[in-house]
Amino acid sequence: MPFKATFSKLTGRLSAPDNGSWEVHDRALEMQRNGEDVILLCVGDPDFRTPEPIIDNAVSYLRVGRTHYSPALGEIKLRRAIADLETQSSPHVCAVEEVAVFPGATAAVHAVMTCLLDAGDEVVIPEPMYVGYTSIMRAVDARVIAVPLDVKAEFALDVEAVKAEFTAATRVLFLNTPGNPTGSIIPAAQLRDLGEFCRQRNVWLVCDEVYSMFTYDGGHRSARASVEHLDNVVMVDGLSKSHAMSGWRVGWVVAPPNLIERLACYAQTTLFGCPQFIQDASAFALENDQVYVEQMRVEYRERRDFVLGQLEDIPHIRGFRPRAGMFIMCDVSATGLSGNDFAARLLDAEGVSVVPGEAFGPSAQSCVRLGLAQNKAVLKRACQRLSRFCETL
Ligand SMILES: Cc1ncc(COP(=O)(O)O)c(C=O)c1O
Repeated sequence: MPFKATFSKLTGRLSAPDNGSWEVHDRALEMQRNGEDVILLCVGDPDFRTPEPIIDNAVSYLRVGRTHYSPALGEIKLRRAIADLETQSSPHVCAVEEVAVFPGATAAVHAVMTCLLDAGDEVVIPEPMYVGYTSIMRAVDARVIAVPLDVKAEFALDVEAVKAEFTAATRVLFLNTPGNPTGSIIPAAQLRDLGEFCRQRNVWLVCDEVYSMFTYDGGHRSARASVEHLDNVVMVDGLSKSHAMSGWRVGWVVAPPNLIERLACYAQTTLFGCPQFIQDASAFALENDQVYVEQMRVEYRERRDFVLGQLEDIPHIRGFRPRAGMFIMCDVSATGLSGNDFAARLLDAEGVSVVPGEAFGPSAQSCVRLGLAQNKAVLKRACQRLSRFCETL
């Protein structure tokens, strides 16, 4: 008799088919492998190299033997650097005891949700939302209550619509500001209002702020900085985007000490610490980043302005001006095509890959998302091809 393999329900949930929105991306990669001239505007991985001083710093720590186990919640030096950063940008002082380090924001969000949610608990999330959230919520078997945002209002958060979705089963309100894919920033007053609303209902407010350092029209104010009380507020951030360190896997959680204690048990069980030399270099990165983060921010802003300028002359496309982040959402409904069809046909006709809005939720199905993680020369060629394609519609 052959062995009959059985697997957990968790793996079944995680391997459930997605909505096919990554088909264009997968096909673009395949075309590129086959030597075709494809421009990838679908990726959210910074095209910049990790700044040289950070690399040198990591290598120096590798050389002195920082290659052993580290505390489950992270090295004190890095936790302190994160706490200091948080204190600088908020009226609330942040203590080291409120910080936990994880290998990336994705792992951090998963850890937080594992510690806060049981199967069937409800998480309210505005949509379109970052694609990674869906599988995390599947992993913890939570019920996602998606709050559609209005394309016509450029996806501005409707606070009353969010509040209206709260039920007795709501445990978490999950926000993302600055947002992927929309590039919008949730105003501090709204964060404050929602933080208090959650608190009164014993609901956690969890906020993913990984694009906090790339704002273009006005600064970012975090959920923690916006609220009066911190006992139900959790912030997630990381170095993937801000420091072009996506492959280093560095993220963190800032949360009340009672949640940090739970996260410690979780991290001890599942991770057993993050690499020492990477944490050393991450602390160095946070303490010495004034110049290079600003250079990348300025470059992204220039790219945004360049692409928005080009889009103005392209028929049937409306680009929304992102106030932050690395993406531009475009409404393509005037072409008569859905975002899915537009993306598929653009790839076939011109070899440019963009993400159909539906990947982020049904309310963005008339949109596609353009990424800014390409240099200006590439973006210029991409816009020329986009223009040629739209002329034919
Ligand atoms: C909103 C958002 N959160 C989290 C992540 C993932 O971050 P990390 O690389 O730190 O896991 C991304 C990556 O695209 C993102 O857009």
